[in-house]
Formats: sequence, C-alpha cells, structure tokens
Amino acid sequence: MPKDTLTVVDNRTGKSYELPIQNGTVRAADFRQIKTSDDDFGLMAYDPAFMNTAACRSAITYIDGDKGILQYRGYPIEQLAEKSTFLETAYLLLHGELPTAAELDAWVYQVTHHTIIHENIKKFIDGFHHDAHPMGMFVSAVAALSTFYAEAKRIADEQMRNNQIVRLIAKTPTLAAFAHRHSVGMPYAYPDNDLSYTGNFLNMMFKTTEVKYGPHPVLERALDVLFILHADHEQNCSTSAMRGIGSSHPDPYSCMAGAAAALYGPLHGGANEEVLRMLREIGSIDAIPAYIQRVKKGEVRLMGFGHRVYKNFDPRAKIIKQIAEQVFDVTGKNPLIDIAVELERIALQEEYFVSRKLYPNVDFYSGIIYEAMKFPVDIFPVLFAIGRTPGWLAQWQEMLLDKEQKIARPRQVYTGPAKRDYVAIEKRS
Ligand code: SDX
Repeated sequence: MPKDTLTVVDNRTGKSYELPIQNGTVRAADFRQIKTSDDDFGLMAYDPAFMNTAACRSAITYIDGDKGILQYRGYPIEQLAEKSTFLETAYLLLHGELPTAAELDAWVYQVTHHTIIHENIKKFIDGFHHDAHPMGMFVSAVAALSTFYAEAKRIADEQMRNNQIVRLIAKTPTLAAFAHRHSVGMPYAYPDNDLSYTGNFLNMMFKTTEVKYGPHPVLERALDVLFILHADHEQNCSTSAMRGIGSSHPDPYSCMAGAAAALYGPLHGGANEEVLRMLREIGSIDAIPAYIQRVKKGEVRLMGFGHRVYKNFDPRAKIIKQIAEQVFDVTGKNPLIDIAVELERIALQEEYFVSRKLYPNVDFYSGIIYEAMKFPVDIFPVLFAIGRTPGWLAQWQEMLLDKEQKIARPRQVYTGPAKRDYVAIEKRS
C-alpha cells in the first residue's frame, strides 16, 4: 500500500528523509530538518510570488484552473449567477450555507439599514482634488472608516466582527458613489432604503433631479450578477493582502483598505479599466493585428487576458459575455464589444497566446458593460472592490478563526553584502 510520504535524499550528506504528504502538499517546515551540520538553519522552500505555495486551508472558494471551474462554498458560479443575488451570495461566503428565507430577510434588513456613512466622511471626500482617482478616494475612505468605529479593534468578539462586516458591505457602495459624485461635481445622493442593494447603488450613482430614482431592472440585475461574479476568488493578490494584514490583528477596515490598494493595480482589479483604454486605443477591428504584434513583441500586454490559475476560459468571462447582450438591449450596443470579440477570436488562434494558455479573464468584458451602463472608466476598479468585499471579509474571518494561522512573516534568501565595517565619510570614494 503506497504511503502518503515523500522520500528525499540530500546528496550533500547522503541522508534520506521521509516527509508526510497531506492534501497534495508537503509542509515547508518539514524541510528545516534537512541540514548539512548542526548549526545549519535547514532547508527552506523558495517561491517568489507564491507560484506554488499554499498559504492556508480554506473552505470558501474552489477553483480548478485547468477545467475553468469556480465554486463558492461548493455551489457552481454559473448557478449562483443565474439563481442567487449578491447579498445572498455574500451571506453564503460568510456563513458557509445559503440562508433560509428568514435569515436572508434579516441579513438584507441589516445591510440596508447601514448604508449611510458619517457626515464627516463627506468632508474627507470633499478634500480630494477634482480629478482624484475614485479608487484612491475609496482606499482612503475605507481606511478612514476605522476611525469611526473604535469597537472594530475587538476582532476576537464575534458580534463586533459581524457589526463591521455588515457596515463594510453596506457602506462600500455609498463610499464608491460619493467618490464618483465628488469627481463629477454632483451633489451626494443619499441611500434609498426602498431599493435593493444594487438598485440603491445605481440610485446613489446616477440620481439627478427626480424625486425618486428608479433603477432599470435589467441593469440592476446585470450589475447584481457582476457583483456575484466578483465576490471571491480564493487566494488572489488582494485577498492575500487582506489575510496578510489581518494576521497582525488590526481592525477590518484597515485590512480592507490594504486589500483594495492591492486590487487597484493594473495586473489585478485595475485591469478592467485598462481593458477599456486598450480597446479605445486599438480603435477598430482593422487595427487588431498590429496590436497583437505589439503584444507578441512584449511592448504591451493584452489586458483582460491571462490568469495565474485559469489555464482555460475564466468561467466568469463567459457569463459576463452573456450579460452584455442583455445590457445592450437596454443601453444600446457598446461598439467596443465588436473589437473585444474579434480580439478574443484572433488571440485564441495565435500561438503566442495558445502556448501560454492565455484566455480572457473576468476583466476582459466587464468594463464594456460598465461603460454601456454609463459608469466612468476610472470607477471600474471600485466596482470590483464592491463585489469583492464579502470575499475579503469571509477570508479575513476564516484566517482569524484558523488555529494554524499566526502573524504572516515569510523568510528570505539574503543576497546582500557580507559583514563589513562602517567607513567614515571622508574616506568614501
Ligand atoms: C484578476 O488571482 C486572481 O484570482 C485574480 C482575479 C480575481 O478574481 O481576484 O481573477 C482578478 O486580477 C484577473 C487578472 C487581471 N489582469 C490582467 O488582465 C492583466 C493582464 N494579465 C496579466 O498581466 C497576467 O496574465 C496576470 C497578471 C493575470 C497573470 O500573470 P502570471 O500568472 O504571473 O503570468 P506571467 O506574467 O508570468 O505570464 C506568463 C507568460 C509571460 O510570457 P513569457 O515571459 O513566458 O514569454 O504569459 C505572458 C507573459 O509575458 N502573458 C501575457 C499576458 N499575461 C501573461 N502576455 C500578453 N498579455 C497578457 N495579458
């Protein structure tokens, strides 16, 4: 009967070691026993960018990159996108089970009645320059929220955690909308508790002089599904930041400000904004071959393509592409979709992309929909952050409750100079 162990021989000493294999992994700490002498620190695993390192055990999201599978708590993303709502999915991510009708009603009531932010936050947002990037405002405002809720530091208290989780999910759309209104010089539109979570966000974003804003149901549902698709994605860069920051036990607002900052990058959640700029730069279907040549030369990246885990289609990109048609029936077709579809068709035939298993990811089509819904391009990463908030918080809480976890503090391979003595300034060349 084969044993779940790995036998390694250290050829420097001829010694062999038997390491247990669990869940397809070997504990990195088990390599420390492999030494060449008693004062040898022992072997470490070297894995820049964590290309092949599991940092935690998690029961929240499952991805099979080769098969293009994504499941939240075991439920396929395709079924949740079709049958669930964003707040129901948020509950599922946080609690591990779909809510009963009573649980969902209570959860929606709680979130709905925490959408208002302290009036002083407006002064904070008003202080930004007129052309401040909404994501920069969002990151700052989320961090600022930590100064309004001193109780948030009591992260060992389940009720305190839940209070902040509800506040963060409830207030991120308000912060996002207020940042947008500041950017366009519009008065702030306050939450309307008669509307759904997503309908209220559209209200705060786009309400003008009408007494009561009425979101278009097709657009409201399309955006709600987009939030579902962005809700979690296991140990992506921003979630790893949430867990890493959270491991030193600050309040969740400070953790999430760091996670949002990680998401801001163009290689991560900032890609949806860059995709739009790329499609606008390409400008026409005729110009696609020339752009592909620039990508193959390494001059530019095909934004919205490629993924660390998916080496097949990102299942979210497929769903988003289907949503586009529903949105365009209401908003009119965004001509950039033709360029995107042709770009995808050509790229998927090119050896450069096929050999590197580069497929459209979640960001490739989402921005085309957002633009058709009249969201300004620079707010796209903030829309991603609204969707990802329950995932960040579920992962943060799972980390806190995981008895194996402690403060994250990786080791390094030192490549600097050996010990040397200080040189007086007059003797330096
Ligand atoms: C998200 O992790 C997640 O789950 C993230 C996310 C989530 O839900 O949280 O799914 C959301 O961030 C999606 C990714 C959005 N980013 C982009 O669309 C930016 C463009 N894509 C990339 O830069 C890139 O594909 C990454 C960052 C997404 C993945 O990078 P990896 O895994 O580190 O891959 P790599 O950079 O090492 O690339 C491998 C090869 C390289 O070529 P060679 O050096 O081998 O010759 O593929 C090339 C890269 O140059 N490559 C691309 C490319 N992506 C990778 N070449 C052109 N265009 C691209 N988009």
